[in-house]
Amino acid sequence: MTALTSNQKKSFEDKGVLVLPDFFTNQECDSLKSRMGELVENFQPQGEGTVFSTTEQKHTQEEYFLTSGDKIRFFFEDAQSNEQETPLGKSLNKVGHAMHDLDPVFSSFVRQPKFAKVAADIGFKHPLLLQSMYIFKPPHIGGEVVWHTDHPFLWTDPPSVKGFWVALEDATIENGCMWCLPGLHKDEPRQRFKRNDSGGTEMVVLNPDPFPTENKVPLEAKKGTLIILDGLLPHWSGPNTSSISRHAFTLHVIEREADYPEENWLQRSHEMPLRGFESELSAS
Ligand code: FE2
Repeated sequence: MTALTSNQKKSFEDKGVLVLPDFFTNQECDSLKSRMGELVENFQPQGEGTVFSTTEQKHTQEEYFLTSGDKIRFFFEDAQSNEQETPLGKSLNKVGHAMHDLDPVFSSFVRQPKFAKVAADIGFKHPLLLQSMYIFKPPHIGGEVVWHTDHPFLWTDPPSVKGFWVALEDATIENGCMWCLPGLHKDEPRQRFKRNDSGGTEMVVLNPDPFPTENKVPLEAKKGTLIILDGLLPHWSGPNTSSISRHAFTLHVIEREADYPEENWLQRSHEMPLRGFESELSAS
């Protein structure tokens, strides 16, 4: 049994994006939301969190980010420094990047058979679950995510990364839904984000031209919608200036046979190798 029709597969190949409303139930979405609520409640913020901003790169120098590939770590919005009164749970930008292997609720969510089926339908032979993120986009302070593609951050040779974006709440233009440039996934990558010799990271510019954004399309999504993004599809989301939060969960998957360079920012310890959809969570 397949998850996608041939028209849907063709549409994904042509446009680099596929929107699947009602892919997850409200209950499935709520299981992630309430589990994240528990993780946030148990988080001890003393000196641990770091600001995550795509408009400046200072966070990338921080060890906290660079060693988060096989952990569950907490990243705050820029605006928090100006909003000291903002409660912890309302000032988070995201949590990442290995909940899908470390937390039983997140592991069960991504290892539902329908997830593996849809991955197979878009061409994965031996998918590896590389990165998970819980994105908060909090009311009033949720920041912009600048135009980018995911492949430069999760580079493989050949390119293989695909993003699975789950609306845990309704995403609208007002609360900062994603936008994309359908069809531009066929372009060559314009950037490559990598570790450098001095222990930090750098963004290598391969093509300085900005994306042509005149034909950008909003990806408004009701709770439970799955959006699949090709790793080379440009996407963007504006700040959340509304009073309504916009929680989302993302999973990034790569092909096992593709080469995964050591210069990529996201690295795992040898004790925690990447796993596929089929693996059981060994310890909880
Ligand atoms: Fe992205």
